[in-house]
Amino acid sequence: MLIPEEEAAKRIEEIGKQISEDYAGRQVHLICILKGGVFFMCELAKRITVPVSIDFMSVSSYGDGTSSSGIVKIVKDLDEPIEGKDVIIVEDIIDSGRTLYYLADILRKRRPRSLKFCTLLDKPERRVKDVKVDYTGYEIPDEFVVGYGLDYAQKYRNLPYIGVVEGVE
Ligand code: IMP
Ligand code: MG
Repeated sequence: MLIPEEEAAKRIEEIGKQISEDYAGRQVHLICILKGGVFFMCELAKRITVPVSIDFMSVSSYGDGTSSSGIVKIVKDLDEPIEGKDVIIVEDIIDSGRTLYYLADILRKRRPRSLKFCTLLDKPERRVKDVKVDYTGYEIPDEFVVGYGLDYAQKYRNLPYIGVVEGVE
């Protein structure tokens, strides 16, 4: 176990409070990156006190293994336009940074009023693409983690805590 459930809950509450202060008097449009971001986004959205709307997007950059294929493609696009909205992208984890780098590029072209990034976990040691993350739950070492939405070959997303998978290269 790396991050117990209660600890994650406390941290998410703090981020929600921070977002509520930063966006006081405005509305936030949360975009969840499926599937990993979904558990985090639900908890986070409940801790935000300004009006929230949500949408979902699915991109793939990984196979069923544990290392990046380097290919990022849109599998499911947003339902609604983001023009003029204060958008926050919600991710489970930032690893190489390729996914966010690519997403930032496409989403900026759709002219949101603002675009920020929020991630539950960050592995800064693994960064290949330079991306600025606005809200981070935890910086973690270079280990393969599961739980709280994160999977290993589509399993373990439902663990209520963050755990490390042993013996994964
Ligand atoms: P990036 O494009 O390399 O930053 O990859 C981000 C995506 O890789 C995340 O949304 C996850 O789906 C996946 N990923 C990266 N590291 C892990 C991990 O430790 N466990 C589970 N999924 C991971
Ligand atoms: Mg993912």
